[in-house]
Amino acid sequence: MRIGVPKETAAGEHRVALVPEVIAKLKAKGLEVLVENGAGSGSLLPDSAFADAGARLSADAAEVWRSDVVVKIAPPSPEEIALLGQGSLLIGFLAPLSSPTTVSALAGAKATALAMEAIPRISRAQSMDALSSQSNVAGYKAALLGAESMGRFYPMLMTAAGTIPPAKVLVLGAGVAGLQALATAKRLGARTTGYDVRPEVAEQVQSLGAQWLDLGVEAAGEGGYARELTDEERARQQQALTDAIKGFDVVITTALVPGRPAPKLVTEEAVRGMKPGSVIVDLAGETGGNCELTEPGQTVVRHDVKIISPLNLPATMPEHSSQLFARNVQALLELLVDENGQLKLDFEDEVIAGACIVRGGEIVHEGAKRSVGAANTTEVPT
Ligand code: NAI
Repeated sequence: MRIGVPKETAAGEHRVALVPEVIAKLKAKGLEVLVENGAGSGSLLPDSAFADAGARLSADAAEVWRSDVVVKIAPPSPEEIALLGQGSLLIGFLAPLSSPTTVSALAGAKATALAMEAIPRISRAQSMDALSSQSNVAGYKAALLGAESMGRFYPMLMTAAGTIPPAKVLVLGAGVAGLQALATAKRLGARTTGYDVRPEVAEQVQSLGAQWLDLGVEAAGEGGYARELTDEERARQQQALTDAIKGFDVVITTALVPGRPAPKLVTEEAVRGMKPGSVIVDLAGETGGNCELTEPGQTVVRHDVKIISPLNLPATMPEHSSQLFARNVQALLELLVDENGQLKLDFEDEVIAGACIVRGGEIVHEGAKRSVGAANTTEVPT
């Protein structure tokens, strides 16, 4: 069985789906790996490192895409999907809830595809959880961006020239990225506070030495994710946050609701209330941003507050992001490949069934069906 690793083509995507360390382990299990020339260059992994690990290199992208299993990080373009071989299996982030174009192209190509973001978040699948591994990178980097972009110290400094109080960092949304941002800001000496609509996170926030901001709005949804707030809850939350945010030097926002636009937590009024020179790092830019003044992918200064909305932060630390992603893929492959090194998909398995969005051209994931349905509805002129 052959695993293909194409070079990522999306703008700014520096990661690669498999790294030499993992390829050596797959080879030891009798799997062949075919890597497109230059696939690791963005992560500073030369072709020779892949060859040393036992991979074959190819300059022919089409050959790589015709492998039995194709492993990718960013969602492929329709042109790339068209290169998939008959009966090939595609594994990667496929944005089943937000990219109907990708899902439709996969269905059109009669493909079978497993979306890394659709792997159920159960204990058995933790080692395959690429959302977590990449969110960890994003949270870490967000805390650093906050520190770097502010003209103030994070830690308290007691010097001969007097004492500087520690910066106050607020993290909104305490999922994987938010918790890592809290931990990183704390390590750098900031005084940290966390907030989420899932009350069960309070303990995790406090275990990282942060304070818990209790606004009295709770919205735990399905599968451990948050649900969208009602209009009344949203208004209450925004007002309470607007009052709270004034006192912080850095606000890092990571609040997401699967398949929905990011909740607007930081209003313009809240930005206006912050001290000049304060910083907002908005990690929710890909789904519109958590701050009303965010411009996704841009850094803007509004009311003397710097609002940074980086897209795809994990790609800015490609070496470790790729390594973690590759290990997630390796764990998933262990479930898909039998002892003879042959692909064996057991669609009764909860992890495989949950991750599968398209099977032999049929869209089998409920969220993916809804997103394609909604796109088709809006495309039809009324
Ligand atoms: P996410 O990236 O979907 O969202 C980030 C955070 O934003 C979440 O904590 C969410 O509650 C929060 N949020 C959403 N709307 C909000 C609002 N209006 N105001 C404030 N906060 C808001 O979340 P992530 O990091 O993907 O985690 C989702 C769930 O998955 C969590 O329950 C987490 O514990 C769980 N999880 C389970 C794993 C496992 O068992 N294998 C591994 C990692 C996470």
